[in-house]
Order: sequence, then C-alpha cells, then structure tokens
Amino acid sequence: NSFFTPISGTAPATSPRRNTKITVVGVGNVGMAIAQTIITQDLADELTLVDANSDKLQGEVLDLQHSAAFLPRVKINASLDYAATANSDLCIVTAGARQNPGETRLNLLQRNVALFKHIVPPLAKYSPDSIILVVSNPVDVLTYVAWKLSGFPANRVLGSGTNLDSSRFRFLIADHLDVNAQDVQAYIVGEHGDSSVALWSSISVGGVPVLSFLDRQQIPYEKKTLENIHKEVVQGAYEVIRLKGYTSWAIGYSVASLARSLLRNQRRIHPVSVLAKGFYGIQGGDVFLSLPAQLGRRGVLGVTNVHLTDEEVEKLRNSAKTILDVQSQLGL
Ligand code: NAD
Ligand code: LAC
Repeated sequence: NSFFTPISGTAPATSPRRNTKITVVGVGNVGMAIAQTIITQDLADELTLVDANSDKLQGEVLDLQHSAAFLPRVKINASLDYAATANSDLCIVTAGARQNPGETRLNLLQRNVALFKHIVPPLAKYSPDSIILVVSNPVDVLTYVAWKLSGFPANRVLGSGTNLDSSRFRFLIADHLDVNAQDVQAYIVGEHGDSSVALWSSISVGGVPVLSFLDRQQIPYEKKTLENIHKEVVQGAYEVIRLKGYTSWAIGYSVASLARSLLRNQRRIHPVSVLAKGFYGIQGGDVFLSLPAQLGRRGVLGVTNVHLTDEEVEKLRNSAKTILDVQSQLGL
C-alpha cells in the first residue's frame, strides 16, 4: 500500500497482533442486535456474518459497513459459506425459527435441531478451537445439541441462558425499590423459559441482602410482590413478542456482555447455560441449564457455589427434568 510513506527508522513489518474474530450465524432480529452491539462496544477486529438468506445477508452487511465512519474499525464479512468463519474465537448461533405470539420456546425444538445439523459441524470444522455460544431457542436443549454435534469439551460450549432473564429480574427489582439495576445482584437459574427459578435467597442491593433486610425492618414480607416479579420475568418475553413480534435489544446487550467476559478474559460471573449434571444433585442425563458461571478466555471456567434453599434446589431439579424430558425425544 503506497498511500503512506514509512517514517525513517521504521522497523520492518512483523506479523500483526492476532485479531479477535467473532462469527454470528443468523442475521435476523437477534443476530443483528448482537452484531451491532459487538461493533459499537469494540469487541471484535473481525466480524463474520452467515445466513441462509443471501439477499438479507448482503443487505445487512452493506448497511452495517455504511456506518463505518461512526464506529470503531472492524472488518465485516458475510458469506453463505462456512469457510469464511475459519479461525473464529467465538461463534454465536442465532439462526432459526422464533416463537409466534403465545408459542413456547420448547415448541421450536424440532425445526431448530434440523438447522443445527447444518450449522454446528461446519463451525466446529473451521474453528476447532473456538467457543460456541448458542442463542437460538429453546436455548438449553440447543446448547446440548451444539455440544454433541461439535464434539467440543463442555467448557467451550455454552448458551446465553438466563443471563437475559436475570437482567429482566434486576430491572424489575430495581424499579420496585427505586435503585439502579446495576446495583442489584440477583439471579434467575434453570431453564431459559417457563420453568426458570428465581434465587430469592441471594438477592442483594448494594451489598445488603434483601430478604433479611425486609425481615429485620419488619417490613411486611413482600412474598406476593416478589412472586409477581418472577411471573413478570417469565411473561416478559411473551409480552414483547405479542407487542412487537420478537425480542432483540436486551438479548443483543446480554450476548455482548458474554462476548466481552469470554474474549477479554474478564472472569465475570454470568448465569448461562452450562453442562449442569452433578450440580445441586441434578441427575438423569447430560443436561444444559443456567447456573452462575465464571467466564473467561477458555470459556466456562467454573460454576459458583451459590447457596440455594431446599425449595430452590427442588425447583432447579424440576427445571432440569423439564429440559431432559424434551431432550429425550431427540435421539442424539
Ligand atoms: P429471525 O426470523 O429474525 O431470524 C432468523 C434468521 O435465521 C433469518 O435471517 C434466517 O434466514 C436465518 N436462518 C434460518 N435458517 C438458517 C440456516 N440453516 N443457516 C443460517 N441461517 C439461517 O429470528 P430472530 O428474532 O432473530 O430469532 C432467532 C432465534 O433466537 C429464535 O430461535 C429465537 O427464539 C431466539 N431468541 C433467543 C433468545 C434468548 O434469550 N436465548 C432471545 C431472543 C430470541
Ligand atoms: C427472550 C427470547 C424470546 O427474549 O427467548 O426471552
């Protein structure tokens, strides 16, 4: 490139710092919300988008490229061919059918498993050292499917899980207490969906455990309010889908936060879908569901030993059973 003249004494070019490359499969509402959040937050040097719909793919990539003058520099590629994804550090899968208003996530299973058989093996082939992050629904069962189809170790396959549900939960608690959601520590675990489990016993605001605070202050125990907040979390996605047809912005930010923790080795704790067999007495098969897990450059580094009440453990095992029942129909 003769556009620039090197200044005298410049050392000969050595191999550049290795790029961070992220692949996003599926450029629908969710894939594009993730892609644009990744770009605006400067999380990748190279972003490769893959979809089965050529026109949509080309249109989305051009539209993104046209924003280059306003954004951190990132090389954006798009292809129908998985060869373009080679050497990705992180592969995010968002392709697939989404819910119609009122439809459950589990109802999408057969359609999306069929797609995953065409998506996961080539991702694993071209990026054998990558981390696979599943977003398509039902996310817990599809994370299991991606683990099976990729042959990757379990620390390098995870699902976005209840990172999103927990954000909805923190927003609603913050709104109820009139505090900032970032100061609310609260987890939803289990299935991303209808059987999710709220960990009431571990909620704290600014370091103050909420339940014991309410007890100490002799504030009438707000059990009903708390239960309603969890119901609102479960209903939240259905409500957004009823109103606008799909969910996108919150999952975009949720997945970008996971990409940051993974690729920048942040060692942060996120409730994400991980291989959960053996934790909290979960038995009956290899099941992926959300537990608070520490994330870093090697993927899932470990699961936090958070204290669960007997009732929470019972609900978590029921959530695992719901997922395993669905999974047993797959024959994988
Ligand atoms: P969408 O219909 O807008 O996009 C789906 C995209 O997948 C389309 O662009 C389509 O062309 C593409 N696609 C279909 N088959 C493909 C294949 N074989 N290879 C590559 N691409 C293919 O849907 P959406 O709103 O973006 O939702 C996508 C998925 O994400 C759904 O399963 C939805 O339920 C899920 N979702 C998950 C969460 C979560 O928290 N885990 C949140 C929101 C949505
Ligand atoms: C969500 C999707 C639909 O936004 O799973 O929760």
